[in-house]
Amino acid sequence: MIFPKTFALDPHWYNPVSPGHDLSHTYRVMWWAKRLSIVLLSIDPSEVVNIACTCAFAGAIIHDMGRFNGLEEPTHGQIAADTKMFVLKELYGDTIPTSWYKHIHFAVSGHSKADKYGKDELSNLTMRILKDSDGLDRVRCDDIDPKYLRLSFTKQFIPMAEALYNEFPEPESFEELDDFRFLS
Ligand SMILES: [Fe+2]
Ligand SMILES: [Fe+2]
Repeated sequence: MIFPKTFALDPHWYNPVSPGHDLSHTYRVMWWAKRLSIVLLSIDPSEVVNIACTCAFAGAIIHDMGRFNGLEEPTHGQIAADTKMFVLKELYGDTIPTSWYKHIHFAVSGHSKADKYGKDELSNLTMRILKDSDGLDRVRCDDIDPKYLRLSFTKQFIPMAEALYNEFPEPESFEELDDFRFLS
């Protein structure tokens, strides 16, 4: 997986920061993208999975930056995908190949809509990872339904998601979450 040069998020990148979808939520979704990727890569360390994991992590960073409030906004993923890629260019420089951005765009734009997959398996996997990473943090509003988790192993992490939220309701940074170690 390729990670950005820094995990520091700027509140000004949001449209604006909205209640329930603030920086702490973004950091936890990033953490889940990384955690689910570790499992996926242990099952299948192929290049395709590696690219999908990198794209899902990058997508997690911007996925809620297109929100205008904390309410139901099914278009906020599309807005983020269309207007927030500059954030990833700033954080990653040119370390992510240009050809990968279409997978990030697909996953971010689709994360706030009902599941709709296309023919590109890499984009589809990227969206599943992002949706499950986002879905696990629904524990913050006590609104998680295991049947909406797409990867076969994600639901086993629900107790950990509750613990992560209780331990780090407002983390300062991704590095702080990265110290959260109980991996089984
Ligand atoms: Fe969202
Ligand atoms: Fe989210």
